[in-house]
Amino acid sequence: MLKYEEIIDKLLSDPIYVDGDRLPPIRALAEQMNCSRGTVIRAYEILEERHLAYTIPQSGTYLMKRQMTGAKSQNRIDFVSAGLESRLRPHKHFEHCMIQALQSEHYDYAPPEGLESLRKCLVSHFEKRYLYTSVDRILVTTGAQQALYLVLQLILESKQGLMIEQPTYGDFQRIIEKTNVSVYTFNREGNSIDFNALEITLKQNKIGWLYTVSNFQNPLGTSLSSKAKKKLLELANQYNFYVIEDDYLGDLNLDLKVETLHYLDIENRVFYVTSFSKTFLPGIRIGTLIAPETYVEMLKFYKKSIDLNTCTLSQMGLQKYFDAEIYDKHIRKVKRAIRGKMKFLRRYQKLFIEKGIECEIPDAGIFAWLVFPENIDVLRLVKILKAERIDVIHGNFFYWHQRRESHAIRISIANVNEASMTQGIERIIEVIEHIK
Ligand SMILES: Cc1ncc(COP(=O)(O)O)c(C=O)c1O
Repeated sequence: MLKYEEIIDKLLSDPIYVDGDRLPPIRALAEQMNCSRGTVIRAYEILEERHLAYTIPQSGTYLMKRQMTGAKSQNRIDFVSAGLESRLRPHKHFEHCMIQALQSEHYDYAPPEGLESLRKCLVSHFEKRYLYTSVDRILVTTGAQQALYLVLQLILESKQGLMIEQPTYGDFQRIIEKTNVSVYTFNREGNSIDFNALEITLKQNKIGWLYTVSNFQNPLGTSLSSKAKKKLLELANQYNFYVIEDDYLGDLNLDLKVETLHYLDIENRVFYVTSFSKTFLPGIRIGTLIAPETYVEMLKFYKKSIDLNTCTLSQMGLQKYFDAEIYDKHIRKVKRAIRGKMKFLRRYQKLFIEKGIECEIPDAGIFAWLVFPENIDVLRLVKILKAERIDVIHGNFFYWHQRRESHAIRISIANVNEASMTQGIERIIEVIEHIK
């Protein structure tokens, strides 16, 4: 190892040096490490180049060790997180884009709907996913979660009822549970919906809105068939309601023609929500809302009243990433990895069925839903697994008011590798044998 690398290694790994510490004076460290002052200076320069230290003139060089992200979950088998494994995240490239964003001095406010340059990039990007829209219908939001919250403001204002599928994304339900919106539920079944029950509710109540995670559903993992999507839009036109389509994994449709409701909609019935969290980086907190034209001004007003605009630097960083034309390459890599993992999980399908576990493991997306036989106490199963450092989510979380006694768990393959998948799944099978 070269001497300056040895110095860097010591400063980063020795626990006596902590974040924010001023690094030792050059002369003292040179003596201690038995090298020239020039070598220490070089080591400090490299630390700065790697953004692991910064210099304050006439004061000294300070350490800024990298936070060990993910360290918390290192020894756990994480079937919960929907964010990608660290190896699939474009850290290094994005770091360069953020540096460029910083250099472009975008420290100002942005318009509430987002930077126009980014929205233009998004129009072209969405076209590759068969999603045709215009710059003025896009709002850049602080994650898909905020996009949902913005539409919720319209729902509250309209005083009309909202229909939600069951099971569905828990963190949206947890928000609406706290409001006075009239909520009606309908069952999502495989790649369709219980349309009979849905239509009865539509006939009997004043429904203005319907929420669905159309593709790679959270938690089921399945997607609505084209027929079901068309039928849903027919009903939207017939009964005059808007559809909130949460396409949180939309980028997995790159190069594919998996239809979205937005694509099929010709009557401007769809509020389309998508996210850059699951297929890119959750920490940049960027999502998108595409809204029918008549609602855009109102949504901008709500957006402004919540946070004025989504972090300008994050927006600029993402735009630089698009400008560098590496986004699609990254997505293809993610898609390949995800498909590989789902294929791997599918090896267990036969075993699951033999053990009486109902499951449908889709070929893409990140979730699988395992329904256990009645004699399995799923709450107990989840607790035992947790104690053994295997994290899964109990199915109840995905039901309205978590009321339903679900016999399911949701498995996410996003943040596990094949080795931990094997270990985790085999242990699940052993535990159910033990507790039934
Ligand atoms: C279905 C669904 N919608 C929306 C979100 C929120 O995504 P974001 O991180 O973009 O706010 C999530 C996050 O898990 C999700 O699963």
